[in-house]
Amino acid sequence: MDVFDCIESRRSVRSYDKKDVPKELIAQILVAGTYAPSAGNTQEWEFIVVKDRKIKEKLFESALRQEQIREAPVIIVVGANLKKIGLKYRERGKNVYSLQDTAACVQNMLLAANALGLGTCWIGAFDENKVSSAVQLPDEIRPMAMITVGFPLTYKKLPSPDRIPFERVSWQEKYGKELEWFMDYSKLTRFHWQPLDQQIEELSRRLKELKKEREELKEKESGFGNKLKDIFKKNKE
Ligand SMILES: Cc1cc2nc3c(=O)[nH]c(=O)nc-3n(C[C@H](O)[C@H](O)[C@H](O)COP(=O)(O)O)c2cc1C
Repeated sequence: MDVFDCIESRRSVRSYDKKDVPKELIAQILVAGTYAPSAGNTQEWEFIVVKDRKIKEKLFESALRQEQIREAPVIIVVGANLKKIGLKYRERGKNVYSLQDTAACVQNMLLAANALGLGTCWIGAFDENKVSSAVQLPDEIRPMAMITVGFPLTYKKLPSPDRIPFERVSWQEKYGKELEWFMDYSKLTRFHWQPLDQQIEELSRRLKELKKEREELKEKESGFGNKLKDIFKKNKE
């Protein structure tokens, strides 16, 4: 799966098969998380992999009783070690980088899981104290996110992606100045767009090729036609 397909096909999955997730796959997801960028390469993330039904029940209670937490065979609690990042970057580290680093880490994990055929959902709506106590986090670790992981129920259709087109939220040089580029709206996927001038170039090249092919075909046909005429002529004689 190429990176664009992976980004595009990832969806939040909230219904899971009961089938367990093999350890190797969980390991691959965790490794993907550790490849995320982090401020000064601090890598202050920490992961708690939860499969225990009782602990899952506590996490479910701590997160507005969202059913997918109960249903998913695995929950990964992603924490940020605030002591570690704070030592390096003080308040900005604790308040900003910790959030950004773990968010990048979570997204890596979601994409890796998608590439492995697993479904995930990023869970952010929870009571931090309750989550901390459920998985016994020490004071310096702040729970930043939970990820539900499992094989998706394929018969449950996911809602189609609803995305604000990038040109409505992207500006050129200064806020509010529209991008000058033209986009191709006819393409099914917005990742494979080309600027209009390149599309015109490509189309005119293709047109030239087609014309050449047609002329070659005509030549061939007329050669064949002449040969047939000769044969008929000879037969008549
Ligand atoms: C910071 C954050 C918190 C989220 N919290 C929850 C949550 O508590 N429960 C949930 O079902 N989805 C949660 N989501 C998932 C979003 O609802 C979902 O990503 C969004 O609707 C877009 O859908 P998609 O992931 O299928 O593209 C969260 C996503 C983010 C990034």
